[in-house]
Amino acid sequence: MSTLDAAFDILQCPSCGEPLAPAEGGASCTNRHHFDQARQGYLSLRAAHKGKGAPASGDTPEMLEARERFQGEGFHDEIRDAVLAAVPTDARGWLADLGGGTGWYAAAVLDARPELRGVVLDASAPAVRIAARAHERLAGVSADVWTGIPLRDASVAVALRIFAPGSAAEVRRILAPRGTVVFVVPHADHLRELGHGLKLMKVPAGKAEEAAASIPDAHVVSVHEVRQRVQLSVEQALDSVFMGPNAFHQDRAKVEKVLAEWQAPISVTIAVSIVTLQLA
Ligand SMILES: C[S@@+](CC[C@H](N)C(=O)[O-])C[C@H]1O[C@@H](n2cnc3c(N)ncnc32)[C@H](O)[C@@H]1O
Ligand SMILES: [Zn+2]
Repeated sequence: MSTLDAAFDILQCPSCGEPLAPAEGGASCTNRHHFDQARQGYLSLRAAHKGKGAPASGDTPEMLEARERFQGEGFHDEIRDAVLAAVPTDARGWLADLGGGTGWYAAAVLDARPELRGVVLDASAPAVRIAARAHERLAGVSADVWTGIPLRDASVAVALRIFAPGSAAEVRRILAPRGTVVFVVPHADHLRELGHGLKLMKVPAGKAEEAAASIPDAHVVSVHEVRQRVQLSVEQALDSVFMGPNAFHQDRAKVEKVLAEWQAPISVTIAVSIVTLQLA
């Protein structure tokens, strides 16, 4: 049985909240909402968009490539190792990586925790296409985790939300008793040097405190800070800008022009907290 087939134990309809079952070409619920499975192996659980503004579309292929290069070069290894350390060694059941992108973190956790199976949920179809192939115990689902996570109540043992948005109430709803959630949030000075000369989005202060308080009936297991200075080439600095939401607001040619005037290596601060909460 594929991991996506097994995941029907925890998937729910994003439109009405009823359980989903496999159906011709994808999945459907008892209220006849139907969702397609892509040939590339991921399931598309996008409900009809009701909120204000455009529906979340997620990261573009160019952003994913930049992030894959940056992660592949080892700049997030310390963060990944801290995430691994935060997942209980005896964790079993389902892991949900919310806004999980290409599944880089989920695959590492699954490698280290053989009793877990996982699902990456992300608004970006090209991201979940990659995630669906990232590990044999990992499934990919495209979904908007802000408007509602298409997973059943109390269905996951471990949730990850790493550099990604989402509703804490929804995270609380999907966590099983004694379930663990690991947040990775940037500090206000994360990548701050790149903001000199470039008008990058500012990271608000207090995100770690906010994450720690976001599920009032969970207890804080740990808050671990990763703080390092890394030396980047101009290309790596470009990747670090264009692998995140700045890509939606910056003109690439302008950023390239500014960075070309800088002397490599460019010394940049990585500053994040790994905040781990557990339900009673
Ligand atoms: C900065 S990336 C982090 C990806 C991954 N967690 C990692 O660290 O490798 C943020 C991710 O959140 C996704 N995303 C943004 N808004 C979303 C939403 N409303 N629902 C689901 N995913 C979303 C993006 O597509 C992107 O993959
Ligand atoms: Zn439905």
